[in-house]
Amino acid sequence: MKLVFATNNLNKLKEVQALVPPQIEIVSLADIGCTEDIPETSPTIEGNAKQKIQYIKQNYGMDCFADDTGLVVDILNGAPGVYSARYAGKDKNAKANMNKLLNELTGKENRDAHFKTVIALELNGKQKVFTGICEGTITLKEKGQGGFGYDPVFQPKGYTKTFAELPLLEKNKIGHRGKAVQQLIKFLNS
Ligand code: IMP
Repeated sequence: MKLVFATNNLNKLKEVQALVPPQIEIVSLADIGCTEDIPETSPTIEGNAKQKIQYIKQNYGMDCFADDTGLVVDILNGAPGVYSARYAGKDKNAKANMNKLLNELTGKENRDAHFKTVIALELNGKQKVFTGICEGTITLKEKGQGGFGYDPVFQPKGYTKTFAELPLLEKNKIGHRGKAVQQLIKFLNS
């Protein structure tokens, strides 16, 4: 089976490709010649994931899946949440986003947070949604070189390392995207 993963994010592509069995061939947006920025204007993570698959279906006529992810911080009333990518500005700069987050949390004792990934699937005229959540805390400073986005400041529950310090395999096993992808694979195999 060939399925478009509606992302231009090579890190996401790498994470998902590491999880799917070889009988599911993942095709990227670049592979189908889609280089435009797909609109993400919904006020919810679910809404954005659905918006991406609808865009691909309408403009390219292909079955696909898309993920949208947000970092939800309890003491910030759920921010940055659906606005995680543009938290510090529209250029979507990961370093600036992390700096802003660490500044917002200065002096705060409760640093509990979770990542939420929603994967939306468009297949044979039907839509399905899969959700993955990973609980953790925001560290006091950036740690680690791996991963992407907010990984250097997110420490999953039960671990002493950030996602940026953990191997991809480990992040995929316990992480938000990995959990959502496992459900997607189960559905595709059913
Ligand atoms: P989006 O799902 O690409 O819209 O991502 C929203 C924001 O969350 C961006 O700033 C991403 O860099 C960040 N993000 C998405 N997934 C992850 C992850 O697995 N780890 C860390 N940051 C992430």
